[in-house]
Amino acid sequence: MPEIQIMPSILAADFGQLAAECKRAEDAGADQIHVDVMDGVFVPNISFGPEAVKVSAAAVSIPQNVHLMITKPQNYIQTFADAGSDTIQIHVESKCDVKETLAAIREAGKRPAITVNPETPVESILECVENRWVDEVLVMSVHPGFGGQKYISAVEEKCATIRRMADWVDIAIDGGIDDQTIVPAAASGVNLFVAGSYLFKQDDMGAAVSNLRKVAQENYCTNV
Ligand code: DX5
Ligand code: ZN
Repeated sequence: MPEIQIMPSILAADFGQLAAECKRAEDAGADQIHVDVMDGVFVPNISFGPEAVKVSAAAVSIPQNVHLMITKPQNYIQTFADAGSDTIQIHVESKCDVKETLAAIREAGKRPAITVNPETPVESILECVENRWVDEVLVMSVHPGFGGQKYISAVEEKCATIRRMADWVDIAIDGGIDDQTIVPAAASGVNLFVAGSYLFKQDDMGAAVSNLRKVAQENYCTNV
């Protein structure tokens, strides 16, 4: 069984104290830090670049899970690898040769992941799993660009389809995850959970991370 992991998204952190916020997430028991990179073209928002990955990587010892919401990810793989990324997630909807870009991530010594938007059919990413071009699939459960949006439960079917195909692949879900929505997501075979606004608003982030992990373990794959 793939390991259940909780990945706080620092898009919801206080940017004025980014390093301390990353450390707060690590101290809370987070398994990885999720860094949302946005270029204002692929999505209608601008967030961080590689410098934020450097700040996070220097602040903590847990891995950096870097989500590239950018139009031409192929031009920035080495930059984000050098910045300290451990997993690099590219969108299947971006303007790149997906196979080549995933191979470039692996050649850089990093974990390749493919990301799929809510309205994009799961068929678009199946070859990435079948051919093991990826170690991880990231299923978007909101339209990318902003934190704090409502969870789209219709994407759970995609997660279950991928899990039925491959027990080895990490399936991550991103958007609107809290202590309620994590139940059907885990039941659909998701094992990595991004959570931004839910975790960073907690007074006791440690208790919230532990509870999310426990609930996910209890419900994992019960609806696949
Ligand atoms: C949205 C980002 C998410 C976002 C999730 O484009 O990819 O990672 O931070 O935020 P919440 O958990 O608040 O929905
Ligand atoms: Zn994200």
